[in-house]
Amino acid sequence: MLALFLFIHIFRIMPKITYISHDGKKNTVEVPVGLTVMEGALQNNIQGIDADCGGSMACATCHVYVPENWYDKLEKVQDAEQDMLDMAYEPKKNSRLSCQIIISDQLDGLEVTTPIKQT
Ligand code: FES
Repeated sequence: MLALFLFIHIFRIMPKITYISHDGKKNTVEVPVGLTVMEGALQNNIQGIDADCGGSMACATCHVYVPENWYDKLEKVQDAEQDMLDMAYEPKKNSRLSCQIIISDQLDGLEVTTPIKQT
């Protein structure tokens, strides 16, 4: 039983997240469940997500655009996140702070795009 437990945890398939720069360059990486999209970017040296505040919703340098087909699968935007998004560069209706998107198995295949100012 212990061997099965270890096998499942060691060989667990991690969700793949695709980070797309404003000019269309794609980076697809595996991000462990429980981390945020922002943390996945930092761990994989993804350009365009600086996360200056470390995820405390005080900078908006982790701003991303989420495709409509994924946007509705995410947790709803809370007031504090919306306040920060209102101050972000070119916010759109599909804007999110990547520090507030927690990776789950259901987000395998998620794509996010960074704004042109975040390069
Ligand atoms: S990292 Fe600063 S708001 Fe997300």
